[in-house]
Amino acid sequence: MPKVVYVSVNNDQWIVDATVGESVMSAAVRNGVPGIVGECGGNNSCATCHVWVRDDFSELVGGPGELEDDLLDLGVEERRETSRLSCQIAITDELDGLVVDVPPTQP
Ligand code: FES
Repeated sequence: MPKVVYVSVNNDQWIVDATVGESVMSAAVRNGVPGIVGECGGNNSCATCHVWVRDDFSELVGGPGELEDDLLDLGVEERRETSRLSCQIAITDELDGLVVDVPPTQP
């Protein structure tokens, strides 16, 4: 079972057992990780699931799709190079140990 690590700005960590095929957002919401809201239920339309993917994993995770890219531009407070909407990252065995930083606020 792949693990995903969510890190807050205070460096609190939540280590979650995720299921292959679910999204990084849904694994967070299912396990009560603070700061990931997922208001639209994973439909790529609210941006309340914004995370910063740690550099070590950014290549493996890849960049955003076109719609996600637009939403990141418009919808998040601090867009970084490794910003992703976590509902758009599907968990795979390869992503075991993925670390993402959770922004202090969501839109
Ligand atoms: Fe709404 Fe990700 S949950 S965009």
